[in-house]
Amino acid sequence: TGCKLVGCGSAVPSLRVSNNDLAKIVDTNDEWISVRTGIRHRRVLSGKENLTDLAIEAAWKALEMADVPPEDVDLILMCSSTGDDLFGSAPVIQKALGCKRNPLAFDITAACSGFLLGLFSASCYIKAGGFKNVLVIGADAVSRFIDWTDRGSCILFGDAAGAVLVQACDIREDGLFGFDLHSDGDGKRHLISTFKENETDDASNENHSVTSFPPKCSSYSYLQMNGKEIFKFAVRVVPQSIEAALEKAGLDGSNNFDWLLLHQANQRIIDGIATRLEVPSERVISNLANYGNTSAASIPLALDEAVQDGKVQPGHVIAAAGFGAGLTWASAIFRW
Ligand code: ACO
Repeated sequence: TGCKLVGCGSAVPSLRVSNNDLAKIVDTNDEWISVRTGIRHRRVLSGKENLTDLAIEAAWKALEMADVPPEDVDLILMCSSTGDDLFGSAPVIQKALGCKRNPLAFDITAACSGFLLGLFSASCYIKAGGFKNVLVIGADAVSRFIDWTDRGSCILFGDAAGAVLVQACDIREDGLFGFDLHSDGDGKRHLISTFKENETDDASNENHSVTSFPPKCSSYSYLQMNGKEIFKFAVRVVPQSIEAALEKAGLDGSNNFDWLLLHQANQRIIDGIATRLEVPSERVISNLANYGNTSAASIPLALDEAVQDGKVQPGHVIAAAGFGAGLTWASAIFRW
């Protein structure tokens, strides 16, 4: 069995926050943010909007483009690290879409590499047999875990959702050519948002005595990031990873694909990787200026925009890579 991408869609919150808006709450300015990152605006969840609704909207659009009814969906993979519910959102999406046969739906947590790990998982489920239509959704609301007084991180992130429908097909039409997937827990400390012990808990309670029971409801700490280390890590590992994925796809060399589609974290990271791979800027997809870093949503969001704009045409081959917290990184070569 082969598998191919047959639809895509995306959705973003209505609140648009400019660099000048951020300059009103932290000591920064439009020029610093634009020059250092390429970001000018980002969308942020507000009011009654939630992430699951964005994911549902993106998934609907992907199904519509593919002309596949929700009852034909066999699997939903919700790739997210910042979902509305700690226990996962995929079953809620399954219910809202009206997938009547109760297909499997679950969440995958792998930060900014999440979407491509979802794409790989979709291909494994299809190739293992039985699954024909798999929705892969990348959706994140990192704004929920941002310290809005930390100018080093609050300028970077935005919220969004993107989705694709992956469909089983004849092996001769196979459109997912090669993957390269990695993680390195040694770099975990460079980007974390860890479970925070409740302040009233007695940290010295090493005897695990009953005085610390029952535990209080706690939460996660704000995102803490060593931006420089993440920057160096991305520019170092991603070119090698894309080359490895191209080799697995039997497409070695930068001229054997049409578009370079990287996780949208920082324009200087994108440019650095493109330069190392000798891909000219005309073949690099970027929409970072309008949305910032939307974590697991960034690749399907940028893909959807490029398809809607007519840049990415049927038959085009895309070299994509995600990278981020974990640390994790993942590359995929696929045909649109
Ligand atoms: N406005 C103005 N000045 C600032 C700002 C700001 N928003 N932020 C930092 N500065 C200052 C710093 O304080 C520093 O001042 P100093 O020289 O007086 O000490 C100076 O600007 C330079 O700061 P650096 O941190 O060295 O700036 P750098 O060029 O490294 O850019 C950035 C920082 C934009 C964060 C960059 O390192 C980056 O983009 N890294 C990648 C981060 C990333 O992609 N993270 C997400 C990964 S995806 C995921 O898994 C969620």
